[in-house]
Amino acid sequence: WILILDFGSQYTQLIARRLRELNVYCEIHPFNAPKKDFEEHPPKGIILSGGPKSVYDEDAPVLNLNYFDFDVPVLGVCYGLQSLAHAISPDSVEKAEKREFGRAELLIDDHSDLFRGIDDGSIVWMSHGDHIKKLPDTYEVIAHTKNAPVAAVKHKNKPIFGVQFHPEVVHTEDGAAILKNFIINIAGCTGDWTAASFIETEIKAIREKVGKDKVICGLSGGVDSTVVATLIHEAIGDQLLCIFVDNGLLRKNEYENVLQTYKDHLHLPVKGIDASDLFLDNLKGVSDPEEKRKIIGNTFIDVFDKAIENEKEYKYLAQGTLYPDVIESVSFKGPSATIKSHHNVGGLPEKMNLDLIEPVSELFKDEVRNVGRELGIPEKFIGRHPFPGPGMGIRVLGELTREKLNLLREADDIFIQSLWDHELYHEVWQALAVLLPVQSVGVMGDERTYEYAVALRAVTSLDGMTADWAHLPYEFLAEVSNRIINEVRGVNRVVYDVSSKPPATIEWE
Ligand code: XMP
Repeated sequence: WILILDFGSQYTQLIARRLRELNVYCEIHPFNAPKKDFEEHPPKGIILSGGPKSVYDEDAPVLNLNYFDFDVPVLGVCYGLQSLAHAISPDSVEKAEKREFGRAELLIDDHSDLFRGIDDGSIVWMSHGDHIKKLPDTYEVIAHTKNAPVAAVKHKNKPIFGVQFHPEVVHTEDGAAILKNFIINIAGCTGDWTAASFIETEIKAIREKVGKDKVICGLSGGVDSTVVATLIHEAIGDQLLCIFVDNGLLRKNEYENVLQTYKDHLHLPVKGIDASDLFLDNLKGVSDPEEKRKIIGNTFIDVFDKAIENEKEYKYLAQGTLYPDVIESVSFKGPSATIKSHHNVGGLPEKMNLDLIEPVSELFKDEVRNVGRELGIPEKFIGRHPFPGPGMGIRVLGELTREKLNLLREADDIFIQSLWDHELYHEVWQALAVLLPVQSVGVMGDERTYEYAVALRAVTSLDGMTADWAHLPYEFLAEVSNRIINEVRGVNRVVYDVSSKPPATIEWE
C-alpha cells in the first residue's frame, strides 16, 4: 500500500483517487501522523502531497524525516517536494515573487524511471508559489520547463523523487502514467487491489474484530448502508441484525419494496419497523425545516433504541460512513482536527454504548458501488439517486399532513417512473418532486379548481456540493406534467425548478 502524507492541498484526495484507479490501495494521513502508526504494516511507498503554505510560513507543516527510515520510495508533489528540499537543506527553496499557475510543457532530462515512456513536451499543471532555487547536493534535476529550471528532481542514489507540478490533476496529460511509474515500477505495488480483494480482506477483518459478538445496522434503503449490511452479513451471518424504519416519509411503496429486496434478494436478517404514526405525530404542527429535521433525527434514535432495548448482547453498530466523510484535508491544524467521525445516526453509539464498525470508511462512493456489484446487489439498487434522511418530510414544504404526503408520493412516483421509462434516470444525479404550500386556480372540465402546485427538480452534479438544473427535454416535462395533473387529484399545476446550486440548494428545505 501507499501512504499519502497530507500537507493540506485541495488535491490530496485526487492523489488517492488516481492510485485507487490504478488498483493500488492507499491511505491519506496528516503530515504529522506518528511514524510508529505504520510500523506494523509499513507502506511500499510514500507520497507527500501539495499544500497551501510556504515553507517560510511560521505555521508551515514540516516533513518528519523519520519517514525515510522506512527506506521505501518517496515522491514529493509541489509543497511535498519543497518541504523535502527545505528539510534537507534550508536554503534550497526560494520565496516566490509571483505564483505560477496553469499549463506548462515538461522537458524531460532523464527518461529512466519516473518519466519512463513519457513524451517530451507533455503538458503538466503547475500551481505553486515558492520554487526550488538550489538543489541539495544529493539531488539532480530530471525535468524542467521553459519557466522553471527545476520541474522534477531525484536523489542521486535513492528512489526519492519530487515534482513541482501536480500529476494528480486531469490537466496533467500523463499524470496517471507518471504516478503509475512511481507506485508500480518504482515502489513495486502489484496493482491488484480490486473490489473482490477488498471484500475478501474486509470479511476477514470483520470476523476478527467481531468474534462471537453481535452487530446491529440501521438500513436506509440507500447504497452505502445496503453494501455495509451485505458485507457484514457475508462475514458473520446471522450475528447481524438490520433495522429498517418506515418513518412515514418514504417514497411510494418504498418500505415494502426495499424490505422485500433486503429479505428475498439479499437474504439479510432485517426487522422492519413501521413507526410512521410516531413520526407524523411528533411532526404535527411543525413547519420550520430545521425543527423538522431535528424531530425526525431524534425520533429515529428513539425508535432504534426501543427496537434493541431488550437485545443487550449487541456490541457493535455498523454504519455506511464513506472516505470523504472521514478525511479532512486541512490537516496541519493538528491531528485532533484532522478526522471528523461522521455519525449517520448521530448520538446513538455514545448513548447505547456501542462500538462502531465502518467497513467502507476508506472507500469513495463509486468504489462502494463496485463493491456492491461484486456482492451481487441488484444494479437498480446500486445506481439509485441519493435520498435524504428526512425524506419527504423536507419536500412537503411547511406543515406535514398525511394527505399532502400522499399527493407528493403520487407526483414523485410519476416523475421518477417516467425518468426510468424514458431512459433519463441515469442522466440526472438526483430528481425529486416538491409539494408547494400554495394553492392556485385552475380549470378542469368546466369546473374551477383551487389546488396544490408541485415543483419538479432534477439536477446534474458530481457530489451534490454544486449542481445545475438538468436540461430535460420539453416533451418529457410536458408528459410528466400532464400525467401529474390528470392523475393526482389535488394538484392542478406543475412547475420545473431552473435554479442551480449555489445559490439555491438541491432540496427546497
Ligand atoms: P442540498 O439540499 O443541501 O442537498 O443541496 C445536497 C444533498 O444532500 C441531501 N440532503 C440530505 N441528506 N439528510 C440527508 O441524509 C439531510 O438532512 C439532508 N439534506 C439534504 C440532498 O438530498 C442532496 O442529495
